[in-house]
Amino acid sequence: MHQVRPTTGDSDWFVQDRFGLFIHWGLYALPGRHEWVKQREEISDEDYDARYFPRFDPDLYDPEMWAAEASNAGMKYFCVTTKHHDGFCLWDSKLTDYKAPNTPAGRDLINPMVTAFRERGMKVGFYHSLIDWHHPQFRIDDVHSMRNHPERDAHNANREQSKYSDYLHGQVRELLTNYGKVDLLFYDFSYPAGARGRPAEFDGKGRQDWQSEKLIQLTRQLQPDILVDDRLDLMDVEGGWDYRTPEQFMPREWPTDDSGTKVVWETCQTFSGSWGYHRDESSWKSVEQLLRMLIEVVSKGGNLLLNVGPTGRGEFDERALQRLRGMGEWMRRHARSIYGCTAAEAGVPTPKDCRLTWNPQTNRLYVHIFAWPYKQLSLDGLAGKVEYAQLLNDASEVFLHEPSAQQMEMGGADAGAVTLDLPVERPNVDIPVVELFLKSNR
Ligand code: GLC
Repeated sequence: MHQVRPTTGDSDWFVQDRFGLFIHWGLYALPGRHEWVKQREEISDEDYDARYFPRFDPDLYDPEMWAAEASNAGMKYFCVTTKHHDGFCLWDSKLTDYKAPNTPAGRDLINPMVTAFRERGMKVGFYHSLIDWHHPQFRIDDVHSMRNHPERDAHNANREQSKYSDYLHGQVRELLTNYGKVDLLFYDFSYPAGARGRPAEFDGKGRQDWQSEKLIQLTRQLQPDILVDDRLDLMDVEGGWDYRTPEQFMPREWPTDDSGTKVVWETCQTFSGSWGYHRDESSWKSVEQLLRMLIEVVSKGGNLLLNVGPTGRGEFDERALQRLRGMGEWMRRHARSIYGCTAAEAGVPTPKDCRLTWNPQTNRLYVHIFAWPYKQLSLDGLAGKVEYAQLLNDASEVFLHEPSAQQMEMGGADAGAVTLDLPVERPNVDIPVVELFLKSNR
């Protein structure tokens, strides 16, 4: 079995479930050109609020449908932006007027979402932005939408960051008190000077600005089982984080901590680049690319949090639905190679063009074949260890045997390998999988 760094929060469900839905939804769905639009285009509060706040009217919002689509795609949990960097809140916070109930939406949008996803048996996660480009006490820094404002210093003279951190803590208290069990919290994000290539004179923010140590205590006190991400700038603090969050890239191997111990991890990824709804982006990944991503992540012991940016009308657009449904079609038959699975044990080399996942409970090994070979596939290190093999899509037997003498003589396989006889015709599924029932005396 793999030795994994223990978490303070409950990660048992998380490493079983493997596949979740990220939801980025807020005022930025209306401009429809990235959730950072306010920052990128340096839009003033007045402009941003005049344009979008009175027009946020998600009249087609149907959280039951969102939950159904996510669940049918094979996702087991979700994580929604309660507030993003623009400061707009989707729930009925008592600490601000800058919230969905005061727009034409007219109500708390988080509550029905939590109910709908829970009814599908899905776990509940909140993404909460540490950053806030709307709050009048949030000190303007080098990332702020007002970073180039001619009166930046004058504005800052009137700002007290600690008043903002009180607000932040107060809102977290609401979120972790009023919505029942919250399984996961994705705080986003810290950017202190000197870290990750930022120069020493960079005006950023970190644990002091958020009062991160108090914030994590509050979080765990209100929701003792909650699993917390790694963006509070508390990497060196005991209990300061539970899981790592590589964003928009694939780690080469299972990520480890400083001592080299494997950690719980989840990569978050978009369909097309932007997290918020983006009308004009055309770099959408295909269903097959997305499935490969999911498989690859699990083959390295991780989770995939895949993002949808719903529209201002409150819908998942057709491009997102097509991908979710395509993934669901594959998951319907192949979820067994994902849920409860992890990396194969050391000593089982991955064959060329394949990814391996392994379920330690059932002791089955899954060979995901990215490029279909001609008739035979040899797996090193498994001679005498496999009881039975089948294609996962139709449970048809795959015949196994020792590599032939001629195969070994001509470099076709090693003596310690087992050879699978595959059909010449590739099964008509996005990624074919062979399920190997391993012998129990491994
Ligand atoms: C980033 C971005 C952001 C997105 C998030 C998802 O840090 O600021 O817009 O919400 O990552 O992980």
